[in-house]
Amino acid sequence: MTKIPNHVAIIMDGNGRWAQARGNPRAYGHIRGVSRIKPVVLEANRLGIRAVTLYAFSTENWKRPNAELSVLWKLLIKFLRRELAELDRENVRLSVLGEKHRLPPEVLKELDPAIERLSKNTGLRLNFAVSYGGRLDILTAARAFAERVEQGTAKPSDLDENVFSRLLSTGELGEYGDVDLLIRTSGEFRISNFLLWQAAYAEFVFLDKNWPDFGPEDLREAIGRFSGRDRRYGGLAKPGSTH
Ligand code: IPE
Ligand code: IPE
Ligand code: MG
Repeated sequence: MTKIPNHVAIIMDGNGRWAQARGNPRAYGHIRGVSRIKPVVLEANRLGIRAVTLYAFSTENWKRPNAELSVLWKLLIKFLRRELAELDRENVRLSVLGEKHRLPPEVLKELDPAIERLSKNTGLRLNFAVSYGGRLDILTAARAFAERVEQGTAKPSDLDENVFSRLLSTGELGEYGDVDLLIRTSGEFRISNFLLWQAAYAEFVFLDKNWPDFGPEDLREAIGRFSGRDRRYGGLAKPGSTH
């Protein structure tokens, strides 16, 4: 029987290269890339995955030219306008991980009501990591705990992995905060400051194809690979395991 991961995180990489390989501007790859999100999210929901975190924009992506940034913001706004009703029908709940306050006001104007509208839904948790950095996530949690200590509501010895996990951007996901399966497209073998703490025991699947070519069948294939892995968490293989 296929094991279904609870939390799947995806580094949606390779939009620019996908477009350039076809003689098109990078923006074209972003347009096509955004169109891949809904089918993948619906498939994840259908498969019974509890949480999907999509890396849409890193804290380092601010280095990109303004023209590219504004394409990305416009596409995020369009995505929300176009897909919100269906996400709602599918009982999907939306969150943003990352520096929301740095996003342009026109993005927040769309994003905040979208999050609010889906906030009572109880199905798949869809997290957009936008202006997200794994190191920043950890620092923010560390600061929040330090403030509790300063206010006298906690002692340093109260801090353990559980307490710290709840202070991270994925804290609200509770038992699903840790990533089970991390997928990266575009042939790169790196984490690029994604969910550093949460991916401590994630299974990684790296795919050569670029994000604009990714579809529900690729998600199913990655889950098949995940399902065949022996997750030992530092222990020993189960008796009878072939790994
Ligand atoms: C991923 O595709 C999307 C974002 C980082 C916003 P890229 O834009 O990184 O495309 P490549 O990796 O340069 O091809
Ligand atoms: C990681 O991709 C971030 C997103 C997919 C949003 P990048 O294209 O920014 O990462 P590097 O530069 O290849 O490490
Ligand atoms: Mg890239």
